[in-house]
Amino acid sequence: MTAPLRTPAPRPQLPLVHDLEELRGEAMRVLAANWAGTHTVPSRTLYPHQWSWDSAFIAIGNASWVPDRARRELLTLFEAQWRDGRVPHIVFSPSVPDEAYFPGPGFWRSHEVPAAPAASTSGIVQPPVHALAVWRIHQAAPDRDFLRAIYPRLVAQQEYLRTCRRPAGDGLLAIVHPWESGMDNSPAWDEPLAAVPAGPLRDKRRDLTHVGADERPTDLDYRRYTALAAAYRDGGYRDDRLLDEHAFVVADPLINAAYGAAEAALADIAAEIGADPYPHLEQAEAVTRAMIDHLFDPARGLFLARDLLTGKALLVDSVAGLIPLILPDLPADVADRLIDTAITRFGLYAGLPPSYAPGGPAFERSRYWRGPAWINTAWLVWHGLRQRREALAGLVAESIVQVTAESGFREYFDPFTWEGHGCADFAWSAALTLDVLSAR
Ligand code: SER
Repeated sequence: MTAPLRTPAPRPQLPLVHDLEELRGEAMRVLAANWAGTHTVPSRTLYPHQWSWDSAFIAIGNASWVPDRARRELLTLFEAQWRDGRVPHIVFSPSVPDEAYFPGPGFWRSHEVPAAPAASTSGIVQPPVHALAVWRIHQAAPDRDFLRAIYPRLVAQQEYLRTCRRPAGDGLLAIVHPWESGMDNSPAWDEPLAAVPAGPLRDKRRDLTHVGADERPTDLDYRRYTALAAAYRDGGYRDDRLLDEHAFVVADPLINAAYGAAEAALADIAAEIGADPYPHLEQAEAVTRAMIDHLFDPARGLFLARDLLTGKALLVDSVAGLIPLILPDLPADVADRLIDTAITRFGLYAGLPPSYAPGGPAFERSRYWRGPAWINTAWLVWHGLRQRREALAGLVAESIVQVTAESGFREYFDPFTWEGHGCADFAWSAALTLDVLSAR
């Protein structure tokens, strides 16, 4: 483990000189190479199937140059939506050998669940950033037929979260697995995960054949991930007694913010196709209020996750706590506090927010979600800053462009040196760079 850094080291000086046309071409090459005919794989090596929130970010990047492919990406994902409305976090490709990814379809056994679709899928969800992607595609290449086709799917996705994933009666959505946060080994999950009994790791991990063990979650993490997923699966992926029967139930600021931003995007989509936008605006407002009441910590100037089994706030500076900046209704004083925190504790003036604030005791600069900077969270912060602090937003956008030009479309980056880590040719790094370039 590398020693935590207390003060940010110098980053490469901006602007670096790069050929942006070449960068754009490289990004398109990665997206074309990862296109699998009906969807895009996040990585040909590490993630060879379709992932839910990856597809949304990929569609955002494809919107400006191959909008048909962006639409197809999301339609394919939503074809695998369960009858209860949940959009699974992985849709497995039958053509990919079983040993290519763990845990694969034989672990999740979605076919044993009556609500599951024809395709093999996982049974957990990811942050619902898809309505944002749909609205972005429509802005780049308007197509009301696409909006009409996908709107009911997006509404059902939100409805599932609203009705099945709000166990505590406080208006907040809960995740039941760290994989649902998208930030698997975030230090925010250390405390609730410590209470989860670790199971045996019967199958061999595949991820470590592609990326070094020091850049990935640990075996102990995986023993808990698989135990939790197996328990949810063995209960038939039911959500009705989560607080009594499940070992990990956490209100995460990122999934709640994504849900609220999705309702705001659904209001725009509804207005465009002659549906009623007001229920969506009400939902967006309600979740924003619930988040401020229950997750915002004014002393820390950050939204914190809350363990719904113990009621305790998880006192961890995760970048997830900055993402509520994407909520259109977030009051200006709360947004200002988040921006101060982003600058002072996440070093935002260095351009790319780390996944976990470098002053924290769990910081590891190259281990997955325990410190490295990721392009999707940088993009979400950029999106949230655009209407609030144009110059700061511009700095984040410029950093996304420069880090990928410097280090390639890697999965994540050392927040200080910008060295690339994780897999190469990672689709959302390419896609969101393209989106930022198209907004220049
Ligand atoms: N992010 C997980 C992985 O690393 C699964 O969603 O495979």
